Amino acid sequence: MLAWEGGYKIGHEEMDAEHLFLFALLNQLDINIQEHREAECLRDVLNALRAYIDYHFAHEELLMKAWDYPAFDAHEAMHQGFVAEIGRLRAEVGEHDMTETALKLRDFVRSWLLGHILEADAEYAAFIAFKTRRG
Ligand SMILES: [Fe+2]
Ligand SMILES: [Fe+2]
Repeated sequence: MLAWEGGYKIGHEEMDAEHLFLFALLNQLDINIQEHREAECLRDVLNALRAYIDYHFAHEELLMKAWDYPAFDAHEAMHQGFVAEIGRLRAEVGEHDMTETALKLRDFVRSWLLGHILEADAEYAAFIAFKTRRG
């Protein structure tokens, strides 16, 4: 289980709330795995994750554009990389062992999300906070 900690907050209220929701999805996947229901839930988890991540990434990209964030292109490329990996895992469903795919999905999302939030997302939030202070 991945507990949401204050340290994962980037200081942007809406984005922190969206990240919290992503953590909740990830924890749901973890619960499914612990209860050995991952095979039957995997498709739904992937669909929910894909739908919410599309919403969240689009929201972040709009925000970064609105603030003329200089590292926008690199950030957008990271988002696209994540979506591509989710697509690859989605393609495995029905082809590979479902438990293996579920574990791969959980480990990938967990490490990607933590790294991305703590570095890339924290960086645009700091940029926006800086610009806000400067007026
Ligand atoms: Fe994010
Ligand atoms: Fe991001």
